[in-house]
Amino acid sequence: MSYLELKNIKKSYYLGNEEFPVLKGINLSFEQGEFVSIVGESGGGKTTLMNIIGGLDSNYDGDVILNGKSLRHDTTRQLDAYRRQTIGFIFQNFNLISHLNILQNVMVSLEMTNLSHHQQEERAKELLTQVGLQEHMKKFPNQISGGQKQRVAIARALASNPEIIIADEPTGALDSQNTKEILQLLDQIAASGKLVITVTHSETVANSGTRIVRLADGVISEDTEVKKGYNASGINELKTHTLKFRSTSTMALANMRYNLKRNLLIVFGAAIGIFSVIVMLGLGNGVKGYINHEIYSQVNPNAIQVAKNVGQNNTNPKNMDMGSTDRNRFTKIKNVQKVEDAYYIQGGLQLKYGKKTSQLSFMQTFNPTILPKSITKGSAPKDGQILLTKDNAQKFNKSHPYAMIGKKVTFFQTTLNKQKMPVMLKKSLTVSGISSANSGSTSMTYNTLKQVYKNNKLSIQPNFMTITIKGSVKNVKPVENKINSYKNGKKNAYQITGVGAFVNTLNTWIDLAVNVLATIAGISLLVSAIMIIVVLYISVSERTKEIGILRALGASKGSIRNLFFSEAFFIGLFSSVFAIVIAEILQVVANNIANGAIHYQIIQISGGNLWFGVIVSLVISLLAALAPASSAARLDPIESLSYE
Ligand SMILES: Nc1ncnc2c1ncn2[C@@H]1O[C@H](COP(=O)(O)OP(=O)(O)OP(=O)(O)O)[C@@H](O)[C@H]1O
Ligand SMILES: [Mg+2]
Repeated sequence: MSYLELKNIKKSYYLGNEEFPVLKGINLSFEQGEFVSIVGESGGGKTTLMNIIGGLDSNYDGDVILNGKSLRHDTTRQLDAYRRQTIGFIFQNFNLISHLNILQNVMVSLEMTNLSHHQQEERAKELLTQVGLQEHMKKFPNQISGGQKQRVAIARALASNPEIIIADEPTGALDSQNTKEILQLLDQIAASGKLVITVTHSETVANSGTRIVRLADGVISEDTEVKKGYNASGINELKTHTLKFRSTSTMALANMRYNLKRNLLIVFGAAIGIFSVIVMLGLGNGVKGYINHEIYSQVNPNAIQVAKNVGQNNTNPKNMDMGSTDRNRFTKIKNVQKVEDAYYIQGGLQLKYGKKTSQLSFMQTFNPTILPKSITKGSAPKDGQILLTKDNAQKFNKSHPYAMIGKKVTFFQTTLNKQKMPVMLKKSLTVSGISSANSGSTSMTYNTLKQVYKNNKLSIQPNFMTITIKGSVKNVKPVENKINSYKNGKKNAYQITGVGAFVNTLNTWIDLAVNVLATIAGISLLVSAIMIIVVLYISVSERTKEIGILRALGASKGSIRNLFFSEAFFIGLFSSVFAIVIAEILQVVANNIANGAIHYQIIQISGGNLWFGVIVSLVISLLAALAPASSAARLDPIESLSYE
C-alpha cells in the first residue's frame, strides 16, 4: 500500500449541458519523501488535479486514498481538517493575506494548531528564519519581493507540519536565482520526509525533483523516477482545529485597522442612530423628572382628600359627617398609610389681633395635602396654634407680617347650636407660622378645632378625611378606584380630590411620548443596519481571495462566518461606545445650559439607557452581518482562490 493513491480520477467541467472532460482516469501513487513534478500543457488539468489531492475539490469520480483511507466519504469538516493537518499549499501567486504582516501570515496557519500562543510564535519565527526572512517579519506582503513572498508561503505551508506539500507552479513568478533557492527549500522539505508535489512548466524545475509525472490529454503519459526518494517522516502528530474565536476577532480587528478610514466612517454613521436613541431616552427622563419636580413642589400627589358625595344641592351639613365606618373602609385599602380626620369651614370666620380684624373666606384643618414647603416662615400648627396666610398676617402687621409669628390672635367662628340658633365660638391661638399667599391656607389642627367647639359645648364630626398613600404615585389610582367602588345607590359614596392619579396619567403619557420619539430616532438605526450590510458585502467581495486562502489552510465555513460576525460586532461595539461618549458630552453641555434657565438637569441618561444603546447596537450589527457572513461562508474555496 502506498502512502497516497489516486484511483481512476475523472473530472469534467460543464458549460450548460456540454461536458468538457479534463481528467480522464488518473492512476498514481506517491510515497513520503518523494519530490514529484507534474508537467503538462497549459489547461491540461494540473491545477484541477492538485485541488482534488488537496481536498479543495470533492466533486470528481474516482478515489483519493491516504494511508489506506478514502477521502471520498469525508464530510466538509473532515476535509477542512485534512487540509489543515495533512496538506500545505504553496501557490504560484503566493496568496498571502495583504492586511497581515509576514509573521501574522504564518501565524494564521499556526493558530489552527494546538500549540500555545507562545509556541506558535516561536515556531513561526523559526520557520521564517529557516526560509531566510528573519529580518522581514514585521513587513507587509506589499513590502517584500516575489521570492520573499514565496518563502513566506513556504513557511506558512510548513507551519502545521503537514505530511504533503502541494506547490502549484511555485516558481512561475520568480527569476532564475529565486527559482533555484525555492527549489532547494522544496528539496529540503522532501528530504525531511514529506511528500512534495509540484506543478511546473519548467524542465529545470522538473529535473530537480525525484520523479517526473507527465500529464497529457487527461491521462498520465509518462512517470519517471529521476532519483530515489528520501526516507518517510511518518504521520503528523500536531493536532489542529479550525480558527478559534480569538483568532477570527483578531483578524477582524486587523482588517478594520487596515481599512481604518472607511470603518471610522461606518462607526460614526452607526453611532448617530444609537446616540439619538440614548439622548431621546435621557431627555425623556429629564422632562419627566422636571415636570414631576414642578408638581411635587406645588402639591403632594400621594395625599388625597375624600368627602361624602352629597351633591351640589345639599343643605344639611350633617350629611357631610364622616365617622369610623368610613375610616375603617379607607384604612383597609392596600397601600394606605394614614387616614386623618379633617374639617373644612366656609364663611363665618374672623381673626382678631388687638383692635385689627381679618375676615377669612375659608379654613381647613391642617392635613397632608398642605405642603410643608408652603410654610414660608415658622412651622406647621400644633394644638393651640394657628397657621396664617401671608395676607392675614399683613392685615395685622402690614410691613412685617412675619413678626406675627409667636403672637396670640383670637379666632372667631359663627355657627348654629343644637337649637339652630347662631352662636359665636371663640379661642385664643398662637401664630405658628406664615404660609405663602397662593399655595398656603389658614389652618389649625383638627384637635384645636374640636377644642374650640368643645369649649362651647358643641361637637364636630370630620367633613372630609385625608388619606396618605405609600410608595410611588402609581399606587394612588388603585386606592381611588377602591374608594369609588363604594356606592350609595347608583352614585359614588365619596368624592375625591387629589392629583396623584393625574400625575400618574401624565407620567404614562410622557413615557409614551418618549418611546415614540426614541422609536423615531431608532429609524436611523435602520439606516445604520443597511450601511453595515453594504460595507460587509463590500468587505466580503474584497476579501474573497483571503477567504479562499483561509479555506485552503483549513479554516471551516463557521470560522469564515465568525470572521464577519466579529467585524460586525466590533462595528456595533465601537459605534455604541462612540455614541455614549458624544451623548455624555451633550448631556453635560445641555445640562449646563438648562441649569441656567430652569435650574434642572434636563437630560438624565441612566445606566440602563446606556446598556440599552450598547445592546441595540450589537444586535443590529449582528443581524446586519447575517446575510454577508453566510454568503462569505458559502463561497467556493477554489473560485475564491482564483478571484482577482
Ligand atoms: N471552474 C471551471 N469551469 C470550467 N472549466 C474550467 C474550470 N476550471 C478549469 N477549467 C478548465 O479545465 C481545464 C484544466 O484547467 P486547469 O486549471 O486544471 O489547467 P492547468 O493544467 O492547471 O493549466 P495551467 O498550466 O495553465 O495552470 C482548462 O481547460 C480550464 O479551462
Ligand atoms: Mg494551473
